[in-house]
Amino acid sequence: MKKTDILEKYLPRMENVLLILHDLQNNSRMNYLSEKDLSLVAHHLNTTLSSIYGVASYYSMFSLTPRGAHIIRICRSPVCHCAGVDDVFNELARILKLDVGATTPDRLFTLETTECLGQCDLAPAMTIDHVVYGKLTAASIATIIAQYRKKSASQGD
Ligand code: FES
Repeated sequence: MKKTDILEKYLPRMENVLLILHDLQNNSRMNYLSEKDLSLVAHHLNTTLSSIYGVASYYSMFSLTPRGAHIIRICRSPVCHCAGVDDVFNELARILKLDVGATTPDRLFTLETTECLGQCDLAPAMTIDHVVYGKLTAASIATIIAQYRKKSASQGD
């Protein structure tokens, strides 16, 4: 979908700024908001680039730098911590050869940490894009990542 088509879905009101930014980011191949995106939003809402930049940089769900096709968010809050998320995280970092905030060279995954996902009954938990994965173990992490890689390879990504 063209960016101008996305903008036209929303009335030019500041109360729509988060919806617009989400929509633009969700339609970005690299899962981020470019400076051009922010300028388009500022123009659409008849406000300044700095005010839009302020909103986009405040919320952790927005990225102002290119990311991978899939965003992994692993919970580091207390319930998941007690349930062993550190072992899961270490295995994930080992498999992907990534530090927090980094993207795999093939641009398939970006690894992020997050506060509670609201899925404590599934601890330790993570999301990949909008899918929740819970009761994670080092073994299950390897299987999940392998599934994404297999799917990507079959789609020729
Ligand atoms: S503490 Fe991890 S989902 Fe709530």
